[in-house]
Amino acid sequence: MSENKSSKVLTTGFGIPIGDDQNSLTAGNRGPVLLQDFHLLDKLGHFNRERIPERVVHAKGAGAGGYFEVTADVTKYTKAKFLSEVGKRTEVFVRFSTVGGEKGSADAARDPRGFAVKFYTEDGNHDLTGNNTPVFFIRDPLKFPDFIHTQKRNPATNCKDPDMFWDFLSLTPESIHQVTILFSDRGTPATFRNMNGYSSHTYKWYNDKGEYFWVQYHFKTDQGIKNLTREEAEKLSGTDPDHGTRDLYEAIKRGDYPSWTLEMQIMTPEQAENYRFDILDITKVWPHGDFPPIKIGKLVLNRNPTNYFAEVEQAAFSPANLVPGIGISPDKMLQARVFSYHDTHVHRLGPNYHLIPVNAPKHSPETNYQRDGFMRVDANGGSGPNYWPNSFGGPAPNPDVLEPPFEVSGLAARTPYMHPNDDFVQPGNLYRDVMTDYDRGNLAGNIVAHLSGARKNIQLRQTALFFKADPDYGSRVAKGLGLDVKEVERLANMTSEERAKATEK
Ligand code: NDP
Ligand code: HEM
Repeated sequence: MSENKSSKVLTTGFGIPIGDDQNSLTAGNRGPVLLQDFHLLDKLGHFNRERIPERVVHAKGAGAGGYFEVTADVTKYTKAKFLSEVGKRTEVFVRFSTVGGEKGSADAARDPRGFAVKFYTEDGNHDLTGNNTPVFFIRDPLKFPDFIHTQKRNPATNCKDPDMFWDFLSLTPESIHQVTILFSDRGTPATFRNMNGYSSHTYKWYNDKGEYFWVQYHFKTDQGIKNLTREEAEKLSGTDPDHGTRDLYEAIKRGDYPSWTLEMQIMTPEQAENYRFDILDITKVWPHGDFPPIKIGKLVLNRNPTNYFAEVEQAAFSPANLVPGIGISPDKMLQARVFSYHDTHVHRLGPNYHLIPVNAPKHSPETNYQRDGFMRVDANGGSGPNYWPNSFGGPAPNPDVLEPPFEVSGLAARTPYMHPNDDFVQPGNLYRDVMTDYDRGNLAGNIVAHLSGARKNIQLRQTALFFKADPDYGSRVAKGLGLDVKEVERLANMTSEERAKATEK
């Protein structure tokens, strides 16, 4: 803890000096306590309100400040000002997190890791709110609350429940790619410094000629990928649940600043049109062979927060915070996230959360006609006009920053992804071509240790999905669980509906 030299006299929240902070005001030396002891009432009352709602997901996390530096010319793809020049630096705040656990849960839990970056640009704050996995479990936002419920606690027992966890995943075959990554040792990164960060979604970049490109972001760790085995992660969860938070803090404190190289995959609209995977489907990656990642920048973390609550807990990231030159894609999940984050921040932090210093724009002050609300702690627009249009010189929209118009078409209907998708190709490739035999052994072992807690019908249904990705993958898991491989193969050859019916009980 560092010394606070700015004030030596203890005061109330209103700066009034306090004479005694050890003895409540009482009638006689044994009490009762007098109602007029405002200092006591104020201290207890403020304490009672110290907790704000924790994030409904990603509640446990660690954060740090730093900068992003451009290392390649990308102006033919985007007019984003913070990416406009090689060597240009932009201040950032980054928060890493686990997803399902509560604020006190262990950093070593098997879970995706959040990788959220806030860029304080001259065009306002831009947030890239990604994960350490290039894909996700689902591709339609309607499924998100249900999916998250299955990662939380059973409504009756209040315990984590392998039946809930695997029931949903086994009935949601598009999750198989992310499940394969999650149950590889990448599901338990050694530290936040030893993992990559991905946009996972496809975003849009557009240049000053109005041309646009589809892009994916990959922050590749310069510390090298390092993972925990299941045994190491389980041990750490018990002995040192905050190991990741401490590791980040201590590395920065000793000047060992973690960094990531930003690599982009970039695709033209023409390339996207007839590509063999749907480039908007977040359960898929863009294979590197087809779209080689291009190095364009460096992210460096070199500043620890001086107060965790002020910066890390109150940090609010949102995929809606885009700057000119960067847009969202029609990815249904991303579209829903544009609503969800601002909405939850208003609930968690209040309608003026954009005034909290970590969230406030640093290089592009807010100038608009929004006024008032709880905790409006700035000048609230002063005496300036509070409506538009006005003839008093108030801030005016600038058409130059509009996103170029884009086409939309199609019948309005609730339809699944129409592109010829195969949810099992990419996890199969990952298992066969990318993983080593050591990785495959650990993957199967990690799955068996967790899935063995679920009911047999759910085990069978899920193992059939592993078999569909790769017969060796499914057989290994089946053997580990003591399941009949022939029965698993039979289920793997059914349609999803037939399989769900065959494994109802
Ligand atoms: P490549 O061989 O070109 O790329 C493989 C990628 O897999 C590398 O980025 C590597 O990351 C990553 N990787 C290595 N081990 C694991 C693991 N246990 N879990 C997750 N990722 C891992 O092949 P393709 O681009 O053709 O992709 C093949 C498969 O690799 C995909 O189906 C996907 O599952 C996975 N993958 C692909 C990514 C992509 O953007 N194309 C990104 C990440 C994974 P690193 O370089 O950091 O070691
Ligand atoms: C946090 C919703 C998908 C990454 C959150 C929060 C909500 C949410 C409500 C809590 C925010 C807060 O209280 O501060 C959703 C919805 C999704 C979705 C509705 C899908 C429809 C994703 C995906 C990714 C992601 C696909 C990654 C690519 C994150 C991260 C955080 C987060 C990193 C934590 C941000 C921080 O550090 O404060 N999400 N999410 N989410 N989400 Fe999502």
